[in-house]
Amino acid sequence: MDALREIMGIVASPRVLPVLLTPRLRLRPFDVGDADDVQRLAGDFAVADTTLAIPHPYDVGMAERWIATLPEEFTAGQQVVLAVGDRATAVLVGAIGLILRPEHSRAELGYWIGRPFWGRGYATEAAGAMLRYGFETLGLRRLYACHFARNPASGRVLEKVGMRQEGIARAHAQRWNRFEDLVQYGILREEFDRR
Ligand SMILES: CC(C)(COP(=O)(O)OP(=O)(O)OC[C@H]1O[C@@H](n2cnc3c(N)ncnc32)[C@H](O)[C@@H]1OP(=O)(O)O)[C@@H](O)C(=O)NCCC(=O)NCCS
Repeated sequence: MDALREIMGIVASPRVLPVLLTPRLRLRPFDVGDADDVQRLAGDFAVADTTLAIPHPYDVGMAERWIATLPEEFTAGQQVVLAVGDRATAVLVGAIGLILRPEHSRAELGYWIGRPFWGRGYATEAAGAMLRYGFETLGLRRLYACHFARNPASGRVLEKVGMRQEGIARAHAQRWNRFEDLVQYGILREEFDRR
């Protein structure tokens, strides 16, 4: 993280994974105790289907192994991944993260919300908090994200947090043996500051 701070002129000094609060959510570091919930929620094909990274089937032990990598990846300045929990009940509803590219002062936003919790505005609320963290705490210049063209709900989330569509990369990725068009969204710090 020291190298990361130096390159980006970070305004704060994040040494431990942060806790971010929104009106309804608490974004916090994952704990090994979340593993069963992660396996159940991310193990739903409907959640894995429109992501590039979630394996399917999601076997026992995968969640523990994934959770164990997160503090190290944060310390190495590679990514910031947080659990999204209901602030009132502490129930895990999803995950959100930034893949960091400090040499370009940018990061890629990614997220998933468990199917029982879709349509409540949780992804939008969590994404808004991560944008603020990326710009105001990490001092990044640009945040971006992309979604499969067949996943318009994610595009709507990105629009709602103020990102603008920048283009469509046709047949950019393969998932489940089929090519996917990726819709790219981005926002610059000055655009975020104006909102
Ligand atoms: C995409 C996902 C994160 C959305 O989470 P969510 O908490 O339901 O999102 P929100 O409630 O904040 O917002 C969803 C928006 O999409 C809209 N939406 C839902 N289905 C839609 C569809 N088929 N077409 C267009 N818009 C749609 C909703 O109406 C809502 O917009 P609104 O507030 O203007 O009504 C969730 O479905 C998910 O985790 N999917 C699987 C993993 C994934 O795709 N991750 C993103 C990879 S890029």
